[in-house]
Amino acid sequence: MDIKDTAKKALELYRKQDYQKSKQLSLKILQIDSFHLSSWVNLGNICFQKGEFKEAISHYKKALQISPENYILGNIANAYLQLKQYWKVWYYCKRILRQDSENIFALNLLVQMYMEREKNKLALPYLERLKKLDSKNPWVWNNLSQVYFFMQEYTQSLKAAQQAVSLAPEDDLQHINMGYALYETALEKGTDFIKKEATNWFKKYGKNPIVKYFSDSLKHNKKIAKTDATYLRKIFDSFSESFEDALQALNYGVPQKIIKNIQEIFKQKQLENMTVLDMGCGTGLCGKYMTKYARPKKFIGVDLSAGMLQKAQEKNVYNQLVNMDIEEYLQDKKEEFDLVIAADVLTYFGRLDSLFNQIANSMKKSGVFIFSVTQNPHSKEDYFLHLSGRFHHHADYIAKCLQNSQLELLKMYPQNLRSEGGKNVEGWIVIAQK
Ligand SMILES: C[S@@+](CC[C@H](N)C(=O)[O-])C[C@H]1O[C@@H](n2cnc3c(N)ncnc32)[C@H](O)[C@@H]1O
Repeated sequence: MDIKDTAKKALELYRKQDYQKSKQLSLKILQIDSFHLSSWVNLGNICFQKGEFKEAISHYKKALQISPENYILGNIANAYLQLKQYWKVWYYCKRILRQDSENIFALNLLVQMYMEREKNKLALPYLERLKKLDSKNPWVWNNLSQVYFFMQEYTQSLKAAQQAVSLAPEDDLQHINMGYALYETALEKGTDFIKKEATNWFKKYGKNPIVKYFSDSLKHNKKIAKTDATYLRKIFDSFSESFEDALQALNYGVPQKIIKNIQEIFKQKQLENMTVLDMGCGTGLCGKYMTKYARPKKFIGVDLSAGMLQKAQEKNVYNQLVNMDIEEYLQDKKEEFDLVIAADVLTYFGRLDSLFNQIANSMKKSGVFIFSVTQNPHSKEDYFLHLSGRFHHHADYIAKCLQNSQLELLKMYPQNLRSEGGKNVEGWIVIAQK
């Protein structure tokens, strides 16, 4: 066996994500030469990609014994970051920086670590260094904008977000960061504070649907009756990995509350004979709590975001997951569902009349519809597009739309849905029947 050739093949297979074959080749090499550096690194990288971080570290450490190179120290630090073993991240990064004070990878890992630990001020000196060393990297500016925001340096935060966008105008994630920087700053300081930056952004990039929807939300545009699908997909795809942790931190408990109502209405045995639709199922939290109680005969989740559905799939609680706009999905559904649930989803719809009609048509006789909505304390209007891009509804409007769709309002009670910007978001849980 030619070791050089085999190592090359192992690397090619790794790049093609054929981890099993790549691993086999690296192991073969190590049987012949247990000091083969790149094979240990390759084994470490394979484990890292598979999420086996402890094993990755043990392989990288073997490589480190052969040759104490900075990129291996970096890989170890990165694996410790995934394991949230922060002091070890710090230790390995510092080892790198002692030899190479301008090592961009190590500086970035330290930034990520401090941001993850919400010690934003400690990330700042490393970001200042990266600003000089890697000034064309939009993510350096993106991180800076977030760090400045948490430090309440709002003007600096907006400037950094603007810089990130101008470096990567094609990257929707930079626009999302700019949108959030504007929205969250507006929440803290009022809309006048962000006027100049917002106007410049809309003027330059207003054709991008994400920028347009942020613009409509920041202006409370009354003509908008539903959240833009491209905006939603991008937001939730990028948010899917951290969604559950982030919402737990915001005391989000709507799925549990909806399931509690379901338990009060239906016996386990009944549910096990039912067809249930989870509209905007997201990462499948309703599915998770529902199946702790009972597994419906047919349980369908629909969502616009493929990223969120991927997470729902991992829970293995739905019979079918559909990546589609809910209105499109409901178009041809007639008397199919015994129960329809929507947890924190109608907040992405302003007008509800035609959606409620579709839902009513899709339900069997006596079918039940349980959902949450956010209260509109801002105006007397039926619905209000909030700065956050979410719609807030009037109770009377909900009742009227249900009535017009021949759905009987059984119960509607106030509920704290979660927190936002340190304040409670108030809403209702609503139960209606066909
Ligand atoms: C805040 S999340 C809630 C997810 C889940 N129901 C829960 O309680 O955890 C809202 C979800 O609704 C989905 N969504 C919003 N509008 C939608 C639409 N028109 N069609 C399908 N899914 C939609 C989003 O993609 C997102 O996953």
